Amino acid sequence: MLVPNHVAIIMDGNGRWATKKGLERSAGHLEGSRTLEKILFHAMDMGVKILSVYAFSTDNFKRDRKEVDYLMNLVVKFFRSKLDKINKRNIKVLVSGRKEHLNIDVIEAIEKIERVTIDNKSGILNICLNYGGQEEIVDGAIKLAHDINNGLDITSFTKEDFRRYLYHDLPEVDLLIRTGGEQRLSNFMLYQLSYTEFYFTNTLFPDFDKSEFNKALFMYENRDRRFGGLHEENR
Ligand code: FPP
Repeated sequence: MLVPNHVAIIMDGNGRWATKKGLERSAGHLEGSRTLEKILFHAMDMGVKILSVYAFSTDNFKRDRKEVDYLMNLVVKFFRSKLDKINKRNIKVLVSGRKEHLNIDVIEAIEKIERVTIDNKSGILNICLNYGGQEEIVDGAIKLAHDINNGLDITSFTKEDFRRYLYHDLPEVDLLIRTGGEQRLSNFMLYQLSYTEFYFTNTLFPDFDKSEFNKALFMYENRDRRFGGLHEENR
């Protein structure tokens, strides 16, 4: 089976899942965090090496204070309670995004899980938190400008070199999954999505189980990835 090396997920539909059940939106996020755990371990079992997930965008700060606080606390609880399990599975956790506006509990939980799992080699969970794709490129460009001011020679600077200025130097995303029925990128991983295959599903994220994930893998296996080259019949 041809398995994507790097899968990214826009975990959409938590709120609608809860509302449909007559629950508070927070119940959808809680169920979404359980789904994330299941999908993480399943993806790694299937041979995926890197899983990037959109947990909170820079624009999500526009939501009600109550929902923002709930999501931040959920992330802290997730990091604290899943640390041992993730570490035993030899998975390294990275967090991508701006640190500004994050409270100290969140920052400490991020620093701890990143520190403890830093040498893990089986796979990577990249959690995008207070993240925006355009912001990531701007932040990278600012760092690069500093280095240029300090004498960096950019005569033969490549797109791979620029990756080192992003939040983390991760390879291209091979497969992007968006749950919840919308078909847009919402400012997610813009630099890393240039030749990515997209899979959109109406399934709401809390209902996105292993068999739903396998459907996306199956679709991926059957796509003809040409990276700008010719169709098979013309090769
Ligand atoms: C979008 O659904 C989802 C989010 C803004 C949050 C995603 C977070 C999780 C899945 C769980 C927590 C993550 C970690 C790392 C523990 P929405 O609420 O916008 O859904 P809607 O479109 O139905 O309103």
